Amino acid sequence: MQDLWQRYQSWLYHHPELGFTLDISRIRFSDSDVTALTPKLGQALLDMQALVAGAIANPDEQRMVGHYWLRDPQLAPTPDIRQAIESTRERIEDFAAQVRSGSLTTPRGERFTDLLWLGIGGSALGPQFVAEALAPYPPPLRIWFIDNTDPDGMARVKAQLGSRLATTLVGVASKSGGTPETRNGMLEVRHWLTEAGLDFPGQAVAVTGEGSRLDRQAVAENWLARFPVFDWVGGRTSELSAVGLLPAALQGIDIQGMLSGAALMDQATMVEPWQRNPAMLLAFCWYVTGQGRGSKDMVVLPYKDRLQLFSRYLQQLVMESLGKSHDLKGNLVHQGIAVYGNKGSTDQHAYVQQLRDGINNFFVTFIEVLQDGGDSQLEVEPGITSGDYLSGLLQGTRQALYENQRDSLTLTLPDVSPRSVGALIALYERAVGFYASLIGINAYHQPGVEAGKKAAASILSLQTQAMHLIHSQAQPFTLEALAEALGLEQPEPLVWILRHLAANRRGIRIDGDWGIPSSWKIQRD
Ligand code: F6P
Repeated sequence: MQDLWQRYQSWLYHHPELGFTLDISRIRFSDSDVTALTPKLGQALLDMQALVAGAIANPDEQRMVGHYWLRDPQLAPTPDIRQAIESTRERIEDFAAQVRSGSLTTPRGERFTDLLWLGIGGSALGPQFVAEALAPYPPPLRIWFIDNTDPDGMARVKAQLGSRLATTLVGVASKSGGTPETRNGMLEVRHWLTEAGLDFPGQAVAVTGEGSRLDRQAVAENWLARFPVFDWVGGRTSELSAVGLLPAALQGIDIQGMLSGAALMDQATMVEPWQRNPAMLLAFCWYVTGQGRGSKDMVVLPYKDRLQLFSRYLQQLVMESLGKSHDLKGNLVHQGIAVYGNKGSTDQHAYVQQLRDGINNFFVTFIEVLQDGGDSQLEVEPGITSGDYLSGLLQGTRQALYENQRDSLTLTLPDVSPRSVGALIALYERAVGFYASLIGINAYHQPGVEAGKKAAASILSLQTQAMHLIHSQAQPFTLEALAEALGLEQPEPLVWILRHLAANRRGIRIDGDWGIPSSWKIQRD
């Protein structure tokens, strides 16, 4: 026990200005791990210095990686980039202030009451996390999200907005400007407004890469405003670009606070030795627990409701960055770290049973917030508040897991404030970059997601051809005959397409047993 106390003290990291503490004492590692990883961590720092100086750190896409410049434009490699960052930030603040104050109104002259944010992946997860963590109550504009191409999900948002659709600012965020889910959301919302006799362009804002399809549309239709997503900002590191800053500012969140917290953390994560660098400590822990192969999942447990979307946000940041088939030398490596979690103590009543007693294939990241928040110090038992319970449950779970050979690390934040949230985002962005260097992969591209998108496109084209064929003939088709007529090797893709069309009464009928597709007779309806 004495050893553990010494280990706790000697590895404890604290950042006085941010009030951040990182405790890695409950991660099991040896002196030889430290010796083995020290040179690799030195190299990771050199890689990061080159990245920040403007190297092509994403070689596959021949791109610079510049999210660190967003919070300290002085780091940007050219005056043009510096100027673009600063002027965009000023424009965001100015635009948001006008909307919040009511000096910029809807085309009918009414004050905006709501913000409907359309985006997916990095264009939604950061704004969702930050809204949940930091939006004041009541916010100047209440935020809603459409982050999928699910008609039912969209209808629910529409129903909740009700007549306030007329006073809703619609933000369409897509770096590429061509993501189908976001495009569909935009078309559906546009349809709602048009049906209600409202002027969509007069209520719409685009956040996208300059010259993208979305950008061109916004120019052609004279949307209310446009803000750029720079080429050197990746989707999953875009929370402190216009993608995250605009919705935050519209909700009255202090974006300068977020940026200054991130900038302070950025400084703290470039220091040596690595034992005094919180992002390096994280990367080191991820490496030793998962043996550099991601063999342990990262369970993220903030004991604070406001931070409950952090693990979803982190899932993309970590898994899209690190989940790669090949390393930079072209070797097949199948890397990655799986991330999941929600919040404590809630999850203690869901899956923590398995963490304590079941398969030991994870490490936990506890996030503690020192200040309870809320407005009650009610004693639920003599001398004990609800907040004391939360704190006690965190410590108890950490202890119970460690006793059962389950490792964890703990991050302690002073509060949930713009500064702390900015710092948290910056900490993990940097840790992902360092870990990528340790395992020698490109953290800044995402070739894997293209495969699913291409397959979906060919399925939709098959649907069009199938519908055409079914409608061109009065006689029913068997599934096999339809597949043959469409030149398919086997009919399974048609099962999915036809079942979905029939269930939605989209002009076809299936007679036969739905459990035996070869019995189907398919005809127009
Ligand atoms: O498909 C993956 C991805 O490209 C993510 O990397 C990105 O955050 C998301 O899609 C959304 O992309 P965009 O902002 O270009 O619409």
